[in-house]
Amino acid sequence: MVQGKFDVIHGWAAKKPGIKVEPWSYKPRPIGPHDIEIEIMHSGICGSDLHTLKAEWEKTDYPAIVGHEIVGRVVTKGENVTRFSEGDIVGVGAQVYGCLQDKCSECSRGLDPHCSEAVFTYNEKYPDGEQAQGGYATAVRVDANYAFKIPDAIANGYLEYAPPLMCAGVTTFAPMIRKGVKKGDKVGVVGIGGLGHLAIQFAHALGAEVYAFSHSPNKKQQCLDLGATHFINTSDEEDLKSVHRKLDYLFVTSSSQSNEYNKYMSWMDFGAMIILLALPAGKMSFGAGEFTSSEVLITGSLIGGVDVLQKTLDFAAEHNIRPIIERLPMEKVNDALERVNSGKARYRIVLDNPVSSN
Ligand SMILES: NC(=O)c1ccc[n+]([C@@H]2O[C@H](COP(=O)([O-])OP(=O)(O)OC[C@H]3O[C@@H](n4cnc5c(N)ncnc54)[C@H](OP(=O)(O)O)[C@@H]3O)[C@@H](O)[C@H]2O)c1
Ligand SMILES: [Zn+2]
Ligand SMILES: [Zn+2]
Repeated sequence: MVQGKFDVIHGWAAKKPGIKVEPWSYKPRPIGPHDIEIEIMHSGICGSDLHTLKAEWEKTDYPAIVGHEIVGRVVTKGENVTRFSEGDIVGVGAQVYGCLQDKCSECSRGLDPHCSEAVFTYNEKYPDGEQAQGGYATAVRVDANYAFKIPDAIANGYLEYAPPLMCAGVTTFAPMIRKGVKKGDKVGVVGIGGLGHLAIQFAHALGAEVYAFSHSPNKKQQCLDLGATHFINTSDEEDLKSVHRKLDYLFVTSSSQSNEYNKYMSWMDFGAMIILLALPAGKMSFGAGEFTSSEVLITGSLIGGVDVLQKTLDFAAEHNIRPIIERLPMEKVNDALERVNSGKARYRIVLDNPVSSN
């Protein structure tokens, strides 16, 4: 068993439901033969971090260190790891383990987020009972299959832009590829936050005509600059009329608890597809009338597997897709969480550790 650099990992943990985190340390799991230890340089704040901190989903195990948009340097590797060397710059997203066996019906089809053995980056237990803890910390130990090389075009000078690609990026790009978004399609994005502002860029790069839907009119110019052709203010009835039966796809990324599916369906061409990405607490509801008369297809998508994660990074590098970020030092994490919680962040906050590249 190799010895790691970090006997103790210092992080920022929530001890109870809410968005306050405080310094807390834990003893990391041993470094197995397929694991790597990463010294964290940058860590993004995802909307899912807030749902977890507030225990809005099933259950949060406190103390909980969240954060699953992680970028850092490999400092230790297990005996069997050949993909990486010490010093490599890698990213980790929302999943840290899947069996990846051919005999697994999910992993063999690129659906490893749905593998029965999947372990997500935080608020999860490994099969051996160890608690997984996330990226608001000095380091993390993960299965090397769930670490990804940051393309040189991003790593050289733009590394702080890489974390949001690890969750927000892949979560929006993966279903676009899987559902076949192509040149000329009319693609809507509801909710222009971390996910939404990357969805605009990916859809635009795939050649789609992009409609950005937002309840924040002051986001209009940035949406257009990112590649949207149309900005629809969701409180403006005239704007909404103009999109009646227009869209081929609609990606729902708004974390509002009152997503209005009846309205969304009326924007869709017959048989078009709504893809739900947001995970607000509570149930979705819609009327049978709008559902039957729009003949809409409704589906969802959960992050992205190992194959599409590397593709996301490479596609982003090739097409110069870059999140708009606000950077704060890790010790300002509570201020950062406040900004995200109050809808002030534009559009992703990235926390920097003192070891960050610049
Ligand atoms: N499916 C997956 O695998 C997956 C992966 C990552 C995240 N998620 C989920 O996706 C959702 C969005 O994540 P994110 O990181 O993009 O969050 P975010 O940066 O906070 O953005 C959420 C956006 O939702 C819109 N919004 C409308 N009403 C809101 C309200 N009452 N409260 C908060 N936001 C409201 C805002 O956009 P406008 O101002 O433009 O209206 C806001 O920018 C979260 O529910 C998250 O858990 C799912
Ligand atoms: Zn996320
Ligand atoms: Zn599997």
